[in-house]
Amino acid sequence: MTDPTANGPTVGIVGYGEVGSAFAERFRDAGVDVVVLNRSPDALRDRLAGTSIAVADGPIALASETDLVLSCVWPATAVEAAERVAPGLADGQPFLDLNSVGPTTVERVVDVVVDAGGAPLKATIMGSVGARGADVRIPVAGPGRQGTIALLRESGFTVDDAGEDPVTPAAIKTFRSLFTKGLRQLAAETLVPAAAYGVREDVLDDLSGLFDDRPVDEWLRDGLENTPRHAARRLGELAEVSEAVDAAGYRAPTLDATIDLHRHLRDAPPGRSPGDPDEPGDSSDSGAPDEAREADYVAVLEALDPHLAVERESTVDGEHPVDR
Ligand SMILES: NC(=O)c1ccc[n+]([C@@H]2O[C@H](COP(=O)([O-])OP(=O)(O)OC[C@H]3O[C@@H](n4cnc5c(N)ncnc54)[C@H](OP(=O)(O)O)[C@@H]3O)[C@@H](O)[C@H]2O)c1
Repeated sequence: MTDPTANGPTVGIVGYGEVGSAFAERFRDAGVDVVVLNRSPDALRDRLAGTSIAVADGPIALASETDLVLSCVWPATAVEAAERVAPGLADGQPFLDLNSVGPTTVERVVDVVVDAGGAPLKATIMGSVGARGADVRIPVAGPGRQGTIALLRESGFTVDDAGEDPVTPAAIKTFRSLFTKGLRQLAAETLVPAAAYGVREDVLDDLSGLFDDRPVDEWLRDGLENTPRHAARRLGELAEVSEAVDAAGYRAPTLDATIDLHRHLRDAPPGRSPGDPDEPGDSSDSGAPDEAREADYVAVLEALDPHLAVERESTVDGEHPVDR
C-alpha cells in the first residue's frame, strides 16, 4: 500500500478496456492518483504517454503501489487477475472485482484475496459503460466496504451499498442477466416466425406499448397471480401458437417451456398437491375457462419451485451450497 501520510489514496486498475479506462479517467478527473495495468504494459505505456495515468510494472507492483485495486478484466480472467495481483496486497487492502461474474466465480476471487490478507469487495456494473461512461450504477458489497464506497462517491461514481456479502451484487446481476438475455431468445422465437406470416413489424408495433400502462414488476406480478386461474384456457391459446410456429417451420424452446409451465400451474396451482381431485383448477385440456383461485405471486413462485428444481447435492452438514 502507498504511504498513508501522503496526499490522498491511489487507485490501481487491472484491465484497461472500456470499463478500466472510463473509471480511471473518472478517478483522475476527481484528483485521485491512478495506476493501471493490462497484459501488454508496454503498449499501454505508449498509449498513456503524456497523460497523468501511470502504468504499473506488473500486477504485484500495481497492488503494492496503491490503496485500492479495481479488477475490470473479463469474466474468464477474473480469478487469474486476482491471483496475479494478490501477492502484492497489504493486510486489509480492498480488492474490488467489477467483472460480470456469477456467485461461484465471486467466491473463488474472494478466496484468493482473503488468502492473501486483502479485503474482497464485489461490485456489478448495472448498465452499459459504452453508452453511459462511468455514469453507471454500481452496487458494492463486502465487509469493510464503507471506505471504498466513500472514495467512489467522492470521485463522482453512483454507488449503492449492497451489504456485507460479496455474492449479493453478483447474484442480482446474474438473474437480471437471465431475464434480459432470455427476453432476446423470446424475441427471436417470436419475430422470426412472425416474419413468415408477414407480421413482424405489426407485432413489434403492438409490443412497443406493452409496459405503457403498468411498470414491468407490476405486470409480472399480475401475470403470475392470474396464471393459475387462466392456465387451462391459456393452454388452448398456446396450442394455437405452437401450431402456427410449427407450420412456419420453426422451433421455439421458450414456447415449449411456457406450455409446460401453464400445464403445471393448471394441474398443481398454489396450495394444492398435483392430482387433488376436488379442486377447481383440476380442469381437463378442454380449454374451458378455469375458475381456480388467483394467488399471491410469491405463492405461485413457491408452487413452481419443485417444478423447476433439479435434485441438488447436499454439503456435509446437509446444507446446499447456496443456502448461505
Ligand atoms: N463495458 C461495459 O459496459 C460493461 C458493463 C457491465 C459489466 N462489464 C464487465 O466489466 C469487465 C470489463 O469489461 P470491458 O468492457 O472493459 O472489457 P474490455 O474492453 O474487453 O477490457 C478488458 C481489458 O482487460 C484486459 N485483461 C484481460 N485479462 C486480463 C488479465 N488477466 N490481466 C490484466 N488485464 C487483463 C484486456 O486487455 P489485454 O488483453 O491487453 O490484457 C482488456 O483490455 C468485464 O468483466 C465485463 O463483463 C462491462
